[in-house]
Amino acid sequence: MSEPIVIDPDALIEQARAILQANDVNGIFIKPGTYQYPHQWNWDAALVALGLSHFDRPRAEQEIRSLLKGQWKDGMLPHVVYHNGASDYFPTPDFWQIERSPNAPEGVLTSGIVQPPLLATCVRLMHERAPDREASLAFVREIYPALYRWHRWLRTARDPENTGLVAIVHPWESGTDNAARFVEPMIRVIPTRVPAYQRKDFLHVREDERPIQAEYQRFIYLIDLFRQWGYDQETIYARSPFLVQDTLFNALMYRAQRDLRALAAELGEPTEEFDEWLATTRYAFNARLWSEEHGLYFAYDLRARRVLEENGCATFIPLFAGLASERQARRLVEEHLRNPEEYAPDGTRYYVPSQAKNNLFFEPRRYWRGPVWIIINWMVMEGLRRYGYHELAETIRQHSLELVQKSGFMEYYDPRDGTGCGATGFSWTAALTIEMLAGQPVPA
Ligand code: GLC
Repeated sequence: MSEPIVIDPDALIEQARAILQANDVNGIFIKPGTYQYPHQWNWDAALVALGLSHFDRPRAEQEIRSLLKGQWKDGMLPHVVYHNGASDYFPTPDFWQIERSPNAPEGVLTSGIVQPPLLATCVRLMHERAPDREASLAFVREIYPALYRWHRWLRTARDPENTGLVAIVHPWESGTDNAARFVEPMIRVIPTRVPAYQRKDFLHVREDERPIQAEYQRFIYLIDLFRQWGYDQETIYARSPFLVQDTLFNALMYRAQRDLRALAAELGEPTEEFDEWLATTRYAFNARLWSEEHGLYFAYDLRARRVLEENGCATFIPLFAGLASERQARRLVEEHLRNPEEYAPDGTRYYVPSQAKNNLFFEPRRYWRGPVWIIINWMVMEGLRRYGYHELAETIRQHSLELVQKSGFMEYYDPRDGTGCGATGFSWTAALTIEMLAGQPVPA
């Protein structure tokens, strides 16, 4: 038996704050990691702001304002904002060529795809806990129009048929780039002509902890198509060879819509549109993505018209969103999360592997194919609390803190022994450590 790991909360909080400070680029944005990701990422920024809000609200608000600077004229909130121009990170701004779109923002460089809409949720959490409600409400009032336009964009550009579920057009948009649920739809993407490029993601991280080359070719091929189409969303929806209604993305969108509705109500803004969005998404999510046979949520491939039956951590995000019924929650927890062949410790020591351990594509150190990610642990933990599984939630919190204590603020961890993998000095790992130790309630 190995030594038990003792958590020192004060020391961890102090170290976490130091990571955020060290990753702060000129007080404008906080980069996701020390070396690997030197720009501002969409959902990272939301979590970073949440972490910062525990000790420096003005800086947290600044983080959000910076992210919103990258918003496109049609409301799209891009997945990366390059405040500081190009770096050794690929794709560089001149690869995206966003100037091909009439909707690209002026005076700021960004990518041309999106990431999971977590921002409104983090803003609501920050607001609910604000010691000075009035000052906080003034900030919410300032950014509300941008948040609303972002969500409207999602509901229109990415769900033109009004199904209630939005589509992602690139696996990077899911935030879980190489998860097993994208293997099948990516095999159907045939990269006929890939532009010249040089992969830079091995500069700072081992190659066997990153996506494989065949996937990377396809990532680049898709971007090349979108830029040729001038990022016209109608064309992309009609022609992108990759078009998926994703579990994680739609669950987070639903949760964010609820949070946005709560903020709208407080501001005295209309809420009817949110009620309609929420009702259609809730229905479609459970009708299309829930598998009664497996007791799991799956993603849906709109191109092949097929359910993508891969068991991965995205299946638990509907708990965080409040999309599952009590019965669905019980099946997810009892049949899967607590199952040692899938997610529970047995031979592995840590919750929550990003891919079920008995999934064909499980690899304990390869990015989203198996390692534990603190962002997922946090969402699963909060989801469990919402449905009353307090003990298991506490176990997952404990595991998360142990990983950080043992291996530092890494991007992800091997679930078998907690070895730290990927990028070092990882900002959302630090931000969520602060959040998990603060012990503040998360509103339903
Ligand atoms: C990776 C992750 C993505 C994250 C980004 C920056 O691309 O897959 O979710 O936002 O790194 O940390």
